[in-house]
Amino acid sequence: MKEQLLKLEKKAFEELQAIRADYELENFRIRFLGKKGLLTSLMKKIGNLSPDERPRIGKLANIARNNLLKFFEETRERILSGDSDEGSFQDVTLPGREQALGHFHPITLMIKEVCRIFYGMGFRVVKGPDVELDYYNFEALNIPRDHPARDMQDTFYISQNVVLRTHTSPIQIRIMENQKPPVSIIAPGKVYRRDSDVSHTPMFHQVEGLLVDKHVTFGDLKGTLISFLHRMFGAETRIRFRPSFFPFTEPSAEIDIECVICRGKGCRTCSHTGWLEILGAGMVDPEVYGFVDYDPEVYSGFAFGMGIERIAMLRYGINDIQLFFKNDMRFLSQF
Ligand code: DAH
Repeated sequence: MKEQLLKLEKKAFEELQAIRADYELENFRIRFLGKKGLLTSLMKKIGNLSPDERPRIGKLANIARNNLLKFFEETRERILSGDSDEGSFQDVTLPGREQALGHFHPITLMIKEVCRIFYGMGFRVVKGPDVELDYYNFEALNIPRDHPARDMQDTFYISQNVVLRTHTSPIQIRIMENQKPPVSIIAPGKVYRRDSDVSHTPMFHQVEGLLVDKHVTFGDLKGTLISFLHRMFGAETRIRFRPSFFPFTEPSAEIDIECVICRGKGCRTCSHTGWLEILGAGMVDPEVYGFVDYDPEVYSGFAFGMGIERIAMLRYGINDIQLFFKNDMRFLSQF
C-alpha cells in the first residue's frame, strides 16, 4: 500500500509538470483527484487495512493528497497566467468568437427611408454645412434681425455672422443660388438648438424638401406630402393641413397625421387631440426668390421640413428622445 501510494504520487507529480493547457488540467483533476480518481480510490481502500497499519498509511495518504492539491493549484495558476515555459498556449481547435455585425442607427434608418421615398418621386438628395452663415440660416430665408427665432436662447452662435444651423432650410438657399429651376431636392442633416429636456436635444435631425418650377401649385404640395405620409405611415392614415406661419413660405401650413398610437381616439402621445404634428410646409415666399435671383412672376414652388427623431419615435414607439443619443446597446441592437 505504501509503495502504491508513493508510485501514484510520483506519477501524478510528473504528469502535472508536463501540463501545458487548461483542458489537460481538468483531465488530470478528474483522473487523480475526482470522486472516482486514482488517489481517491486508493484512499478508500485504507479502511480495509489492519488497525495498526491504518493510521500510518492514512497519514501518508493525507500528506500525499495535500501536496498534490498544492502543486495542482500552482500549476493551475501557471497555466491561467499564460506563464508556462513554452509561452502562452493557444488552442487552435476552439471555435472562434463570433463577430457581431454592425447595423444602422435608427435615425440613419429613418433618414434613408424618407430620402428613398422622395428620391422615387424625382427629388435629388443634397447636403449642406452644419456650421452656417447667418445669411443662409436667417437673412435669405426672410427671417429679419428682430425675429424671435434669432434669439440667443435658441441659436448657437460661433461669431456674430456664423451659427450652427438651427434648421435645414438654409440648404434651400444654397441650392437655388447655384441652380436655375426646375429644382427638386431633399436635404437631410443635423440641426442645433439651445434646448434640452425629455422631448428636446441640443442636436437633432431634419429633412428639408424644395421644389420650384413653372406652374407649381399648393395642390402639388398637398399631393406630394400626402403621398409621402401614406407611404411612411400607411395608406389608411388620415392627414390634415392647418394654416400656419413661416417667414420663408406664404401661405404656410402645418401638417398633422392621425395619431399612430391611438388611431385618432386620443391618448397621451397626441395630448388627447387624436392628431400629431409632423411637417411644416408652404409655398416659397416671393421675398426668398429675391435673394436667389429667381423671377417670382415666372416660377413658383413649395418647401417643407420635418424632424426625424419625431418620425422615428412614432414609427418605432419610442417615448424618450434622449435614447437616440445615449448609445446604449440594449436600445440600439433592437433595430
Ligand atoms: N425650418 C422649419 C423649422 O425648423 C421647418 C419648415 C417649415 C421648413 C416650413 C420648411 C417649410 O421648408 O416650408 O421649424
